[in-house]
Amino acid sequence: MKPYIYITRKLPEAVIEVMKQKYEVKMWEHEDISVPKEVLYAEAEKADALLTMVSDQIDEQILTAGNRLKVVANLAVGFDNIDVKKASIKGVAICNTPDVLTDTTADLTFGLLMAAARRIVEAAEYVKEGKWKSWSPLLLAGQDIHHKTIGIVGMGKIGETVAKRATGFDMNILYHNRTRKPDMEQRIGAKYVSFEELVEKSDFIVCLTPLTQETRNLFTREVFRGMKQSAIFINASRGPVIDEQALYDALTTGEIAGAGLDVFEKEPINRDHPLLSLPNVVALPHIGSSSVETRTAMMKLCIENIMAVLEGKVPKTLVNKDWKPIVKA
Ligand code: GLV
Repeated sequence: MKPYIYITRKLPEAVIEVMKQKYEVKMWEHEDISVPKEVLYAEAEKADALLTMVSDQIDEQILTAGNRLKVVANLAVGFDNIDVKKASIKGVAICNTPDVLTDTTADLTFGLLMAAARRIVEAAEYVKEGKWKSWSPLLLAGQDIHHKTIGIVGMGKIGETVAKRATGFDMNILYHNRTRKPDMEQRIGAKYVSFEELVEKSDFIVCLTPLTQETRNLFTREVFRGMKQSAIFINASRGPVIDEQALYDALTTGEIAGAGLDVFEKEPINRDHPLLSLPNVVALPHIGSSSVETRTAMMKLCIENIMAVLEGKVPKTLVNKDWKPIVKA
């Protein structure tokens, strides 16, 4: 019997073709609707491998159902949607897609910063709505980006690449991270500071930290209160790293000036989400790594990882380094 691979979203046939030659492959038929939990459960019971999205919860129940399951390849660098500890216990390799998305995600993050600072989305809507009557001295005047201070919280590969973008804008770069990165400091000219100092001194606070127990709700009302009134907050990591109500309150009371958000506490958000009512919020639908080239590279990396595990090899981008295969059906 050929190994069975279940893909939780519709992916381009041309990309998955390589797996179809060797394995039985089935996809959830929708591009823009998540697979329901009960379908995922039923598929996990049969599957040797799952190719999953950030919107799928790969919890204990799914991992326990997967009595043939050998590998879960998540189409993302983040893996907070997966119970990685449980996966190791069950002998399931967890793989993610680092590196291939670094530049693309940094581009989007910096673009979001620029859009929020220079009010690009608001201005584009203004023109499309026919509101532009004449050139005017302070029409949709935003804030400068060049020579300002950017504070990056979470200096992983994406953070470092955002910092590199910031050097081109002659920005002063602060960062906070679990570990200091002296080489990067030398190369890019970024300065390590405490979280409190970063919050207090930055004009742009850019959140790129992964979601963990330590970072959940890191940005509280108190933290927003510590920012400059002119500060713009950018989140391109995970929604639950911030207290969304606290951000809303900080924006509506004028404690900070604006926000650019690619991620939210509960995704997708509805039109009536309070943050969408604010003109100084730029909201995007979690598209950090979404260029055709990069998403294709991410899909290919997932496939490469799945095929490696099914062929008895160690996958290229393994998350649970303590993974040991268990002989399964
Ligand atoms: C997307 O959010 C990712 O983690 O790659």
